[in-house]
Amino acid sequence: MFITLEGPEGSGKTSHLPDLADFLREDGWNVLTTREPGGTAIGDQVRQVLMRSDNTAMNPRAETLLFLAARAQLVNEVIRPALAAGTVVISDRYGDSTLAYQGYGHGNDLDTIRQMLAFATGGLTPDLTVLLDVDPAVGLRRKKTVGEWNRMDAYQLEFHQRVRAGYLELARQEPRRWVVLDAGQPREMVQTALRQVILARLTPPSV
Ligand code: TYD
Repeated sequence: MFITLEGPEGSGKTSHLPDLADFLREDGWNVLTTREPGGTAIGDQVRQVLMRSDNTAMNPRAETLLFLAARAQLVNEVIRPALAAGTVVISDRYGDSTLAYQGYGHGNDLDTIRQMLAFATGGLTPDLTVLLDVDPAVGLRRKKTVGEWNRMDAYQLEFHQRVRAGYLELARQEPRRWVVLDAGQPREMVQTALRQVILARLTPPSV
């Protein structure tokens, strides 16, 4: 089972993931968590290039290819072997981030990105994707106070609004894969909803 968490800036994905993984492990599941961009020695180096605030000259196409390069490494080095061993893999961001940010956000052609995604991942798509939906104006304010500001955060609010609208459109197009949660709710409510959604998919229905 391959699960991905997606969302605009400050949606809280990254802080929810460790608690979620611990909960699932206590329930008896083998769980591996990964984070994008990064999650491998090579991917972490690519991450630095992408996130450095002084790389303001980065071209959107170069940006797209770098995210895909980091992902190709992660899929082959970490995700595929774990899935083959029967582990539940939960990734903090994956291909839908590229569609939302580099596609809807920057306006790169979505079909082209889809083809490049298939190349980078060898066609590996998630079984379940949870969108933690939040207004980017709220999310960016949250992020600014926590002090984790990076080059992507510095794009204009309109860019981040397009990203959010893009996510909602992706979820609308594939309702069986996506679950949308309101990440504007109190943290405990979001965590409870996440656990319920994922457990329901992991546990086969009893007959
Ligand atoms: P990060 O600090 O990990 O933020 P978050 O906790 O929100 O995931 O930064 C990752 C940034 O990279 C975030 O702004 C989203 C962006 N991103 C893309 O634009 N495209 C991608 O394919 C991926 C994986 C991330």
